Amino acid sequence: MINTIIIAIISYLLGNFATSYILGKIFKKTDIRMHGSGNAGATNALRVFGIKLAAATFLFDALKGVLAVIIGRMILGDIGGYIGGVFVVVGHNWPIVLRFKGGKGVASTIGVALTINYKIALICIVIGIIIVIMTKYVSLGSITAMTLLPILSLILIRPFDINFIIFTIILSLMAVFRHRSNIKRLISGNESKLGQKAH
Ligand code: G3P
Repeated sequence: MINTIIIAIISYLLGNFATSYILGKIFKKTDIRMHGSGNAGATNALRVFGIKLAAATFLFDALKGVLAVIIGRMILGDIGGYIGGVFVVVGHNWPIVLRFKGGKGVASTIGVALTINYKIALICIVIGIIIVIMTKYVSLGSITAMTLLPILSLILIRPFDINFIIFTIILSLMAVFRHRSNIKRLISGNESKLGQKAH
């Protein structure tokens, strides 16, 4: 039990490293959450700060996911990796250091998923990117990729691994939950397309 708690705390704190917020403060002297969609993530960094800070945001947010899984695995094997993966995304989405107003967890979830099962992760990423290219809605690509994660895991992972399925369902639910406002805007036709400045 103590190992589980240790992994959860380390991963949660790792998730609190809000790359877009930190880069925005350092290089643009502003809080990214006051601009664009208000989200502390790579898509909004692209919208508000441009490609360089967006790429750095994506990279470091994904790296947090990779690190959390590796640390969790070192402490508690596969289950530790799953716990680390969930809590780093919790830390990213609801960071205590930013009064629980963080990002939507897509880049971090990508890092987590690539580390745990890169084949399924890559299929989700490619399909997500195709959706973004076709529709110009990053959120729709994200939601699709995140929803596919448990579905593809259920279909493709053999032997059946209930822990892995539960883990991917949790990641997926968190991502969809954090995209509530995007879903509303997509339905009403008000969602920003890639390249548009703000909603
Ligand atoms: O990963 C977040 C993306 O799917 C949506 O970001 O800023 O448009 O809400 P944003």
